[in-house]
Amino acid sequence: MEESHRTKETFNVTPWEVSGPVDYDKLLHQFGVKRLDHILLSRVKKLSGERLHPMIRRNFVYAHRDLDLILNDYESGKGFFIYTGRGPSGPMHIGHLVPLLFNKWLQDTFDLNLHIQVTDDEKFVYKQDAKWEDIDHHTKQNLIDIAALGFNPDKTFIFRDSEYIKNTYPLLLKIAKKITLSTARATFGFQNETNLGLTFYPVYQIATTFFEEKRCLVPCAIDQDPYFRMQRDIAESLGFKKTATLYSKFLPSLTGTYGKMSSSLADTAIWLDDDEKKVKNKINKYAFSGGQATVEEHRRMGGNPEVDVSFQWLKILFEPSDPKLRVIEHDYHTGKLLTGELKQILIERVNSFLIAHREKRKRTEKELDRYMYSGKLAKQMWGKQF
Ligand code: TRP
Repeated sequence: MEESHRTKETFNVTPWEVSGPVDYDKLLHQFGVKRLDHILLSRVKKLSGERLHPMIRRNFVYAHRDLDLILNDYESGKGFFIYTGRGPSGPMHIGHLVPLLFNKWLQDTFDLNLHIQVTDDEKFVYKQDAKWEDIDHHTKQNLIDIAALGFNPDKTFIFRDSEYIKNTYPLLLKIAKKITLSTARATFGFQNETNLGLTFYPVYQIATTFFEEKRCLVPCAIDQDPYFRMQRDIAESLGFKKTATLYSKFLPSLTGTYGKMSSSLADTAIWLDDDEKKVKNKINKYAFSGGQATVEEHRRMGGNPEVDVSFQWLKILFEPSDPKLRVIEHDYHTGKLLTGELKQILIERVNSFLIAHREKRKRTEKELDRYMYSGKLAKQMWGKQF
């Protein structure tokens, strides 16, 4: 009963809202993007020296636009650059790190320039009750968290929109002039009540794809596709290349595999500043379990790793070894591993990751300055007028 009811439930994926049980196959058709097929995967694998990142190996990064053109450009020596972003609406949780970590892997593996756009403007105009001072505070804190991930200081440019606008405004205007209100409305669902700030914001998210002459690849979660669809419609008329994209699914929230981890429900996310006790309590209390109601039943019938959030988090983020993950999956599926034991594995992984992250965060100030202003790419970008 419950199940059949659920499968009929609708889902909705927009850049500002993800709700319901996302059908990732349907999304491919809805958005008109391609699945990452075996041919492309094996090309990426070969170019990466046979070391695919777990997220892409395990089908979490699963869709794209024009990835084949990117690989052609890489093979022919033309090269490409990557770009991703973060909306600093509040403090960061583990889900926010997913695209950033994947970008770091791409940067390291293919030795790429990476631009990280921090959209203080977007979050200010989007959040009705946000004061500029709040967004400014979150932006500064988020920048430190991002810098702590350890990107290549000579090849990474991290910028906040409101500051770098000095260099980009003419480019923004050229883009804005190509997009009518009715197109923006159809793409983003803008209403009569939508404020002008939000209707203008998309031109900035598009502009970053034009920061270099090489073709751009945007690795991000699939909810950002509307921006890049729009980019591809106008890029060539402005003398630029259409951007390529590489899309991931969403990291499930602790409480279930629906939607993406929400910032508004504090307990269903693990925040980067959650201490060890909090992490332990939250995972034990909230992490949705694919196990049986009693130990006896679990031993007899086994658990379901597909819906178990602890297992999914290990698969996506915290257990890079395939053989080890297979053992965990098998043991859970056959009932040898109990839910409490599976959670314990995750608790340890999350805590050791967060402890290391907070240590790095303390020593990040100098690096942040390089990413934003004084590193090789940053300097180059501040010297550019678009
Ligand atoms: N709009 C994104 C957010 O709300 C931030 C962002 C800007 C972004 N540019 C991007 C995300 C490029 C992915 C790729 O979080």
